[in-house]
Formats: sequence, C-alpha cells, structure tokens
Amino acid sequence: MAGIFSRFLTKPTPSVLGIDIGGSSVKIVQLKQENGVAVLETYGQLALGPYADKEVGQAVSLPAETIAENLKDLMREANVTTTSVGVAIPFNKTLLTTVELPRKEGPELQTMINLEARKYIPVPVSEVQLDWFVIPDEEGEELNPKMKVLLVAVHNEALTHLERVVSRAQVAASFYEIEIFSTIRAVVDEPVKPVMVIDVGAAATKVYIVERGLVARSHNISRGGQGVTKALSQASTLTFAKAEQLKREEGISENAPKPYNKDSVTLTYSSVFAEARRVLREFETKEKRSVVKVVLTGGGGVTKGLKEYADSFFDTEVILADPFQKADAPAFMRPVLAEIGPEFAVAVGVALRKLEEVS
Ligand SMILES: Nc1ncnc2c1ncn2[C@@H]1O[C@H](COP(=O)(O)OP(=O)(O)OP(=O)(O)O)[C@@H](O)[C@H]1O
Ligand SMILES: [Mg+2]
Repeated sequence: MAGIFSRFLTKPTPSVLGIDIGGSSVKIVQLKQENGVAVLETYGQLALGPYADKEVGQAVSLPAETIAENLKDLMREANVTTTSVGVAIPFNKTLLTTVELPRKEGPELQTMINLEARKYIPVPVSEVQLDWFVIPDEEGEELNPKMKVLLVAVHNEALTHLERVVSRAQVAASFYEIEIFSTIRAVVDEPVKPVMVIDVGAAATKVYIVERGLVARSHNISRGGQGVTKALSQASTLTFAKAEQLKREEGISENAPKPYNKDSVTLTYSSVFAEARRVLREFETKEKRSVVKVVLTGGGGVTKGLKEYADSFFDTEVILADPFQKADAPAFMRPVLAEIGPEFAVAVGVALRKLEEVS
C-alpha cells in the first residue's frame, strides 16, 4: 500500500539473521516478526572444509577473512535480505563455572567477583571478558550464608576473531552470545526442572544441564561426528568423503550394505553418551534432583537411529531438538525442518534473541 497513511497502518517488520560459526560449517537462520509471531524466511548451511582444501564434515580452524567469504557465499545462496545480525560464540572459547561465594551486593560483590574469578579462570583475567549472574535461591537456601554465582568468561581473542568476520562480511552484529545460551532458547521448554542438552558437533560434543533456565553444569567432550566418519573410513577402507556420505545415508542402521561398518559408527557415540551419562549422574547425586529430559542436538543429532541408540543409555526420555517449531513456516516444509532442525538450533536461538531486540 502506498500513500501517506501506509506508515500508520503497517508496522515495519524488520528481518534478522542468526549466525552460528561452527567448526565444520556456518549456519544461518533469517526470521521476521509478523503479528507477534516469528516467521522463518530463509536458512542455510555451508561447509567450511572446502574453504581449506578439506572435506565436508571436517572441523577446520580458519582465518576470519576465509570464514567471512564462506558467510557471504552462504548469505547469497540463501537469499538473505538483512544485515542485521547476532552471532554465536563457540563454547570452546568460553568458560562457565558455578561458584559459591559469601552473600554480598553492589560494588562489594563486583570486587569479590573480580578477585574470585582469578582462581577459576586458567588465563589472566585481562585476556577475557567476564560476566556473572547470581543464581536465585531455591526454597530453603535463603538461610545459607553463601550464594551461588555463575561466572562466564569469553576469550578476547575469540571475540576479536568474530568481530573481524562480521566486519569483513559487511553485516552489523549487535551482540555475541555463547552458543549454549542460544541453544537453550531454541530447544529447552522446561522452565524449572533439570534438562540435559547434548550438542553433537564435528570435533566436539557439548553437554550441559539447564535448570530454571540457568546452566547448572557444562562439559566439553572432545569427540564428535568427525571422529565417527574417520572411524568408519578406516574400518571400511573408504575415503573420508565417501564415509561422510554413507554415514549420512545409513546412520546407525542394522542392515546397511557392506562395506558399511555400523560398529565403527556406534563406537564414538557410545563413548560420548557414556561420558554424558556420567555428568548426568554426578549432577543427580550431588543435587538430589532428577534430570527429566535429554535433548539431542547438533549436526550429529541428525544421524539416523541416534535417538533410539541414545535411549539405551539414559533412564530419562530422549528427544530430538526441533528448534524450527518456534517459527511459523509453510506446512509443506515441516517434515524437512523437523529433520534438519538439530543442526540449526544455535542459529535459531540467536535469531530469536535478535528478533526480541528489534520488535
Ligand atoms: N545426516 C547426518 N547424519 C549423520 N551425521 C551428520 C548428518 N548431518 C551432519 N552430520 C554430522 O554432524 C557433524 C557436524 O555437526 P555440526 O554442524 O553441529 O558441527 P559444528 O557446529 O560445525 O561443530 P562444533 O559445534 O563442534 O563447532 C559432522 O560430523 C557431520 O558429519
Ligand atoms: Mg555447532
């Protein structure tokens, strides 16, 4: 509608972009707000391996300029129409830890945290951005002379790297957020009880427990989908590329044709789930509360049969992340969005925060 009244009748609905720079690929999700609802406009993913003469599915460490090139290519391919973005910070560039400190407030609290942080952060405090949250008391905890504080540190270098990617890609970022907070926004609906999230990436798997919307535990396992492909390529004498392709087709399938070696696929996943289960049990024993759900996410979460395999490790319900549920999309796209969802959890979470910011 044109004319002088149009601007009073139609509220502008800016589009926003969530960016997740993973070890093996960049993912983006563009959303806009319509009548108070998040609408999916476009999304995409582009492997970083080929930008470093490596294969799709391999985790690579690249200069900001090369990542920016990938991001620009991806934005073009996905027909992105906005430069208004938020960016996720990789978990392995951060440190999250819960500490118990004497109850203090205001400037006194700030001073104490600056002092205490030195004990928990393995690098000089001047090399990190430090943030913290006081965890609200649970019932009965008010009398405890100590309070729980979540310390969050991000390497300055990691932030500078991301800022360089953003400026080279000619987009404008208003925030950088640790990826696990993005994932929580996108896939954890339980507001109170503890939920475990398992994000199976390429080189690593991130495991964390969310309770009352806060991170109660976080743990990095240095194994992921890339290790699965390597094991399969060795066991079945295939190239990495062929093994990656077959892994995506067959997953944990009992009746995949030879030379597919299912056991080499479950080998990595069994050690990942066993380690996640140790984290879960340690939490349950110490806190005396049960984890009510396990959410499987990340590219590895797309593996055929992985949910059923994970079921055998946990007493609690295991579900696959479905972050696109949070956005309106054409019905015909639903099945594919549900299938690829776990890969996009971080990017969806970032886009949702960005949407809150602009609306
Ligand atoms: N359909 C599929 N079946 C099995 N594995 C898959 C499938 N799709 C992707 N993967 C695997 O997921 C992994 C990549 O996951 P993801 O994209 O979440 O990692 P990343 O975000 O790049 O890495 P990180 O989070 O560790 O930095 C790769 O090992 C890839 O082989
Ligand atoms: Mg990732």
